[in-house]
Amino acid sequence: MNGLVALVTGGASGLGLGVVRRFVKEGAKVVLADLPNSKGNDIVKECGDSAIFTPMNVTSSDDINAAVNTIDKKFGKLDVLVNAAGIACAHKIYNFITNKPHMIEDFQNIQNVNVTGTFNVIRLCVPLIYKNKPNNDGQRGVIINTASIAAFEGQMGQVAYSASKGAIVGMTLPLARDLAQPGIRVVTIAPGIFDTPLLGSLPEKVRTFLMKTVPFPSRLGNPDEFAKLTQHIVENSYINGEVIRLDGALRMPS
Ligand SMILES: NC(=O)c1ccc[n+]([C@@H]2O[C@H](COP(=O)([O-])OP(=O)(O)OC[C@H]3O[C@@H](n4cnc5c(N)ncnc54)[C@H](O)[C@@H]3O)[C@@H](O)[C@H]2O)c1
Repeated sequence: MNGLVALVTGGASGLGLGVVRRFVKEGAKVVLADLPNSKGNDIVKECGDSAIFTPMNVTSSDDINAAVNTIDKKFGKLDVLVNAAGIACAHKIYNFITNKPHMIEDFQNIQNVNVTGTFNVIRLCVPLIYKNKPNNDGQRGVIINTASIAAFEGQMGQVAYSASKGAIVGMTLPLARDLAQPGIRVVTIAPGIFDTPLLGSLPEKVRTFLMKTVPFPSRLGNPDEFAKLTQHIVENSYINGEVIRLDGALRMPS
């Protein structure tokens, strides 16, 4: 990890923040990208010279291009991209109590952030990663995406979220194939349930119930466990084009 330059979207909170902290501890330079109103600025202050904050909405090509320019100017290279920005939404396809269908805007918004956002950051970062001199294995860089086990076992009310995560799973192999010749690996992590602000807002009773659904260990995952897997993916050159579940053997029920 030492000396690598990594861009982490959604780096101001939860899983992305876990990655930022681990990568900095391991000697990488980290570019934390998150919404302008996030805690990105405060977080990079903890990291000294090892991290910078670039405000970014992953749906905005201008924001991404500005971040890529900043990275190029400041560090002159990009080795690792971790896409951890994302949002959730929970509605059934039809609400039979209020007689209202799922709002199309809610569906479109989650696809826009989770799917188009991931795609957009990748497509605009590839040219800078491609400028790297290949290592002995011919590798120029690594891209890690964040899906969810909801891509495989979406629960009631997760139709829009599951569709967005399924799309990230679906793009993993073709991306790895598109980027094989230039030596850029693409791997996706499908997390189970992790202790992040996304879940932290749930009542304690619900959190306790959720923990019990995980076979072993029966608890929420912590962001550093996610970050450790991203580190392993960076360090292990033979992992490519794969979706890796990280879930304590959880298979979500209906
Ligand atoms: N926490 C879990 O249990 C869990 C499980 C499976 C998958 N995931 C996925 O992991 C990713 C991170 O989730 P988390 O739990 O850390 O959530 P989180 O809310 O703690 O962090 C998400 C971060 O993404 C940022 N973000 C949201 N929209 C953005 C946008 N348009 N542009 C840039 N940044 C944006 C937020 O500001 C936030 O800092 C998400 O894609 C989520 O779906 C989380």
